[in-house]
Amino acid sequence: MPRALITGVTGQDGSYLAEFLVAKGYEVFGLVRGQNNPRVPAVRRVAPAVRLLNGDLRDLPSLIGALDAAQPDEVYNLGAVSFVGMSWRQAELTSEITGIGVLRMLEAVQIHTHNDMGRIRFYQASSSEMFGKVREVPQNEATPFHPRSPYGVAKTFGHFMTVNYRESYGAYACSGILFNHESPRRGHEFVSRKVTRGVARIAAGLEDTISLGNLESRRDWGFAGDYVEAMWLMLQQDEPDDYVVATGVTHSVRDLLDIAFNRVGIRDWARHVAQDPGLLRPAEVDLLVGDASKARSRLGWKPRVDFRTLIESMVDADLAATEREARSRRRVIS
Ligand code: NAP
Ligand code: GDD
Repeated sequence: MPRALITGVTGQDGSYLAEFLVAKGYEVFGLVRGQNNPRVPAVRRVAPAVRLLNGDLRDLPSLIGALDAAQPDEVYNLGAVSFVGMSWRQAELTSEITGIGVLRMLEAVQIHTHNDMGRIRFYQASSSEMFGKVREVPQNEATPFHPRSPYGVAKTFGHFMTVNYRESYGAYACSGILFNHESPRRGHEFVSRKVTRGVARIAAGLEDTISLGNLESRRDWGFAGDYVEAMWLMLQQDEPDDYVVATGVTHSVRDLLDIAFNRVGIRDWARHVAQDPGLLRPAEVDLLVGDASKARSRLGWKPRVDFRTLIESMVDADLAATEREARSRRRVIS
């Protein structure tokens, strides 16, 4: 039975990856931070077989301890402060966890394996946010980076540290440069979920408006469930390498609003959207669209869920959640 350790198991990708690896017959361990993490019950619901270990990407001994306990064949480093908007307000914390945290995890593998790093296959969750002010369209593995946020800068550090450990110590270390991917499990702070949840609540009469920042930015949005398969495929190759994972199709935040509101029969959504200058970012990434030809040809990976299907499924899930919430409120009142 292969063994895997996932950092960030309580996040969106961590939960899909845990489910995916359990279904593949892995023994899966998940790193959880904090003494009473409120997201643990959700992990237990979707992947009850996962064994949870305490640890924090700010604490090297806890990472070594987790590796010693899990004895993994594969490590997926997904843990991060992942919300770009917050990274300006907490730049130091973001650098510490999202950037230096990668170095700590690599060092922990080095120590755990007694400098025989090739024994463990290591996946680093890199990001299209590293392309930032894009130098070419679409972006591929050779496109230069120009990060526009403290988060993007931290991810770029983690990316090159991963490459460096591969080149310096023979680590089997891969960096997945993943473009935005969403799902009904997405955090409420990200624009896709903020919109689909807002639309469901407006349709139920619970709210009237959604406050948003820049409606013109464009992203290459895919489905998280498809993307965790690419992470796994990267670690099954003969040689470690870096891969862009994307759909190759870009949409604006306006397109997202069109599809989400249409799903509940609202065509003129402008009266339900307030533009809040406070939600504009100090520096924006205007356009992301990825060229995943390398992942397609070498890994045999391709996305299965298109943008419309993805957003409609998120609206449907949020409508169902809103209905459940309303039912339980009615029960309490009666
Ligand atoms: P997410 O839902 O925000 O999950 C982040 C995870 O990191 C959570 O489990 C969180 O745990 C954990 N974490 C935060 N601080 C930590 C610390 N100090 N020590 C250990 N764990 C810590 O993010 P996601 O969307 O699943 O993304 C997974 C990874 O892929 C992240 O590294 C993200 O930056 C990267 N990425 C995501 C996308 C995307 O579109 N989703 C695209 C490219 C790259 P708590 O529950 O304790 O907060
Ligand atoms: N979050 C948010 N909230 N974004 C908004 C809003 C709003 O109210 N209004 C407009 N936007 C715009 C943002 O300015 C950005 O251009 C776009 O919507 C997407 O924002 P997010 O959903 O927060 O995602 P992101 O692209 O900044 O970052 C995500 O994708 C990266 C990969 O490119 C995160 O998952 C990162 O962790 C990931 O690395």
